[in-house]
Amino acid sequence: MQQQLASAIKEAGIEGVSLLDIGCGVGFLHQSLLNHGASKATGIDLSEKMLAEARTLAAEQSLSDRTNYVLGDFVAMAADLSSADVTILDKVVCCYPDAKTLVVRSLEKTGKVYALTYPRAHLLNRLMTSAEAICLKLVGCDFRSYVHDPESIEQWIEAMGFHKRKQHQSWIWLTQVYVR
Ligand SMILES: C[S@@+](CC[C@H](N)C(=O)[O-])C[C@H]1O[C@@H](n2cnc3c(N)ncnc32)[C@H](O)[C@@H]1O
Repeated sequence: MQQQLASAIKEAGIEGVSLLDIGCGVGFLHQSLLNHGASKATGIDLSEKMLAEARTLAAEQSLSDRTNYVLGDFVAMAADLSSADVTILDKVVCCYPDAKTLVVRSLEKTGKVYALTYPRAHLLNRLMTSAEAICLKLVGCDFRSYVHDPESIEQWIEAMGFHKRKQHQSWIWLTQVYVR
């Protein structure tokens, strides 16, 4: 799915753009876009381990001076972050209980292109998420994933002046790129 997302972002235009990768993990996606013409990227993530790996990978590709990594919850830190031309949320909306706040706050930081991958809201995904929650509870882990309603997500995005440019779906995931 990340490949589809990357292709759709490239098709929307990345030459010289700034990127905001929310829940960036080890940064593979924005680093790849930097290697294909984007100018600079900010990656934010809750996990210091992910960000440490992202910094290492950026250094290996001589991208350190074009990347900025921030540790924390995007929703809590949004006011302190600069806006970007392109915002990416790749498999992140499903990690956050309050999808509307995450989506609206990230749209407020987006100049041109809003790109995201999140789970489809069918029964199988809902059952898998419920089963996962039971297993996580049994092992004492607080993490939960969420299947949010795609129609609501699309409405929030469109209400902020974006329209859908590209969509791809697999059995599990929905990949969408919107432009202003
Ligand atoms: C499933 S991983 C996806 C990582 C990366 N986007 C990718 O596709 O490889 C979700 C990531 O989002 C981060 N995350 C979840 N909620 C977040 C939030 N509110 N602010 C910042 N990072 C968040 C998690 O720490 C995790 O690294």
